[in-house]
Amino acid sequence: MGEKRVLCVGLVCLDIISVVERYPAEDSDTRCLSQRWQRGGNASNTCTVLALLGAPCAFMGSLAPGHAAEFILSDFHRCNVDVSHLVRQSQGEMPCAICLVNCHNGSRTVTLYDINLPDVTAADFEQVNLSQYKWIHWEGRNASEQVKMIQRVEAYNRTCPPSDRVTTSVEVEKTRPEIYQLFGYGDVVFVSKDVAKARGFYSAAEAVKGLRRYLKPGATLVCAWAEEGADAMGPDGVLVHSDAFSPEVVVDTLGAGDTFNAAVILALSRGRPLAEAITYGCQVAGRKCGVHGYDGIV
Ligand SMILES: Nc1ncnc2c1ncn2[C@@H]1O[C@H](COP(=O)(O)OP(=O)(O)O)[C@@H](O)[C@H]1O
Ligand SMILES: *[C@@H]1O[C@H](CO)[C@@H](O)[C@H](O)[C@H]1NC(C)=O
Ligand SMILES: *[C@@H]1O[C@H](CO)[C@@H](O)[C@H](O)[C@H]1NC(C)=O
Ligand SMILES: *[C@@H]1O[C@H](CO)[C@@H](O)[C@H](O)[C@H]1NC(C)=O
Ligand SMILES: *[C@@H]1O[C@H](CO)[C@@H](O)[C@H](O)[C@H]1NC(C)=O
Ligand SMILES: *[C@@H]1O[C@H](CO)[C@@H](O)[C@H](O)[C@H]1NC(C)=O
Repeated sequence: MGEKRVLCVGLVCLDIISVVERYPAEDSDTRCLSQRWQRGGNASNTCTVLALLGAPCAFMGSLAPGHAAEFILSDFHRCNVDVSHLVRQSQGEMPCAICLVNCHNGSRTVTLYDINLPDVTAADFEQVNLSQYKWIHWEGRNASEQVKMIQRVEAYNRTCPPSDRVTTSVEVEKTRPEIYQLFGYGDVVFVSKDVAKARGFYSAAEAVKGLRRYLKPGATLVCAWAEEGADAMGPDGVLVHSDAFSPEVVVDTLGAGDTFNAAVILALSRGRPLAEAITYGCQVAGRKCGVHGYDGIV
């Protein structure tokens, strides 16, 4: 049997990306430099990068009926991401993000439409054969439902020998208090700069030290901070840091964080030490910032 897979649970959406020379003024009418459709969503992007880095992976999330869903499905196939856990909902619309990327510094301005597509549930997650996975990652969304999924993994872990257990990670990215309960689950917790700031922290190191008390015993907290790199702390309480690896020109930071998460998950899942894992995360995320999309990151 080959390497066990990584499963990412969360959002997939359509990203319509316009690359612009400069950010437009409100109510103006301008041309953009280029435009593309891209499969997006945090967990879906993380799968893209895992697959590019050579890690077998699968995605679990909801798909609406319609054209956008067909585009998304074929892109998952193109990227070699297993879609057997996609849940085809009979109603709701495909979430869609309109993104403006400034080609001079890569800044990305996103407006997301995501209102009526039902999320995957703990009942859907019951269908997942846990013995096929070594790591499951959740993008924090419907937290109360996701906690039930993680509890299923905890129960499963108790029934099998250490070598067969599944490691879990969660991403606390959005500043919605409902999602904060996820700090207490997951062997690895990724907290975003936005959430860290909303909780009153002004650097990755401060955030990691200050938020660590909300984790379950033995867990690891990781916080990325754009051009300042990333910090993390594992159960040994040692703070580790990596600087960012800036490309010559930053052209597209959309999904930099998702790229970082994917590379860190891959390194940790292969047993690498935490400091090495976040350094690898910053290297791959830095390369991503120097190219449009993901195809040039390896
Ligand atoms: N301007 C940049 N230059 C170099 N690396 C960057 C830059 N922006 C992001 N990164 C890399 O991406 C990682 C994730 O950044 P983050 O700001 O969390 O991304 P996002 O905005 O996608 O959430 C950082 O740890 C860093 O390694
Ligand atoms: C990019 O440049 C614009 C102004 O041209 C500025 O407002 C924005 O903050 C910059 N973003 C980044 C990520 O450097
Ligand atoms: C789960 O996957 C394992 C390994 O591929 C397989 O042996 C087992 O039969 C599967 N279980 C179910 C219930 O499908
Ligand atoms: C979370 O999932 C439950 C069960 O499917 C659902 O009833 C609830 O509305 C969902 N909450 C959010 C915020 O999506
Ligand atoms: C599952 O097992 C792994 C490996 O032993 C352990 O590190 C982890 O804490 C367990 N995770 C959960 C969610 O129970
Ligand atoms: C998740 O997606 C949103 C919207 O595209 C984006 O703003 C955010 O940076 C992403 N998070 C990470 C960690 O990349």
